[in-house]
Amino acid sequence: LTYKVPDEHVFKGVKLHDGMLHEGSEEADIYDNLELTVDDCIVASYPKSGTTWTQEIVWLLHHGADTDKAKETTLTERFSFIEMIQQIRKVPEMLPPKLIKTHVPYSSLPRNYLNNSTTRPKVVYIARNPKDTAVSYFHFYRANRAYGLYKGSWSDFFEMFINEYTVYGCWFKHVVSWHNFAKMEPNILFLKYEDMKKKPTEQIHKIATFLGKDIDKEEVLKLTEHTKFESMKSNKAVNYSSSERIDASVSPFMRKGQIGDWKNYFTVAQNERFMMMYEEKLKGTDLTFEFE
Ligand code: A3P
Repeated sequence: LTYKVPDEHVFKGVKLHDGMLHEGSEEADIYDNLELTVDDCIVASYPKSGTTWTQEIVWLLHHGADTDKAKETTLTERFSFIEMIQQIRKVPEMLPPKLIKTHVPYSSLPRNYLNNSTTRPKVVYIARNPKDTAVSYFHFYRANRAYGLYKGSWSDFFEMFINEYTVYGCWFKHVVSWHNFAKMEPNILFLKYEDMKKKPTEQIHKIATFLGKDIDKEEVLKLTEHTKFESMKSNKAVNYSSSERIDASVSPFMRKGQIGDWKNYFTVAQNERFMMMYEEKLKGTDLTFEFE
C-alpha cells in the first residue's frame, strides 16, 4: 500500500502535497522572490527530525527567552512554513525578525536566497537518525489528513521511505547535501536531534552563540525546561493539538520524543537492508548518527 506523490505536486524537484506550492503559481513567485535579511532566521530539516523543537528554541532566542509570550500564540503563527500556499503569502507582511520554517533541500531554497549571498539569513538545520525519523514519519502519515490518514502498515511505509516515495523524498540526499553546505557556509548551523536530547543545555547555548544572542545561564536552564519533551507535549502553542490536519486520536504530534524507538518497528531484515543503504549513502562523508 503506497501513497505516491502525484507529479503535479513536485515543486523544484521536491515532492510536496495538497495545500503546498505549485510550479508557475503566484505563490511560487512570492517564494522565489522572498526578501529576507541577515536578521531573519530559517529553521530547516527533513520532516520529523525535531523541527518544532528547534523552532521553539529559535523563537525564544529571538524574543528575550520570554516563555510566557511564546505560549500566547502557536508556532504556526510565529513562523512561516514557506512551502505552504497559505503561509508563503504572509511572509511579505511579517514583522522582523521573520522566522521561516522549511523542509526543502538546500538547492530548492528560494531563488533570492541562493542568488544573494550577502543578505542571507542564518539557517539552523536539524537532522535526526534516519531510523527514528522514518518511524516518526510513519505515525505522522497515519495521523495527517494531508496524507489521507495513511492506512498502510509499517512495512509498507518502510518500503516507501527507502524508495523515496515520501513527501520531501530521499532522506539521504537531503541531509548529506545540507551537511555539505553547512561545512562551507558559516551561516548554517547543523544540529542533531540526538545531541539535543542528550545535552540540551549545551545545544541551546550553541544555537544562542550561533545566532549572536546573549543569554545567561539561568535563561538557558529556563529554555531547557520549557523545551523538554514533556513540557512541549502539554504546551498547546507548540503541540499542534489544535491543528485540523492532525488526528491526534491516531497519533499525537508530540508522540514519544525518544531516541531508539525504531527498535520497536524495524525487523532484523529491514535493519540489515537499511544499514547497508546507510553505509553506502554516507560513504565518503563525515556524517554520523547515534541510534540509541
Ligand atoms: P516522535 O514521533 O518520535 O515522537 P518535527 O517537529 O520535525 O515534525 O519532529 C517531530 C518529532 O520530534 C516527533 O518525534 C516529536 O515527538 C519530536 N519532538 C518534538 N519536540 C520534542 C522535544 N522537545 N524533545 C524531544 N523530541 C521532540
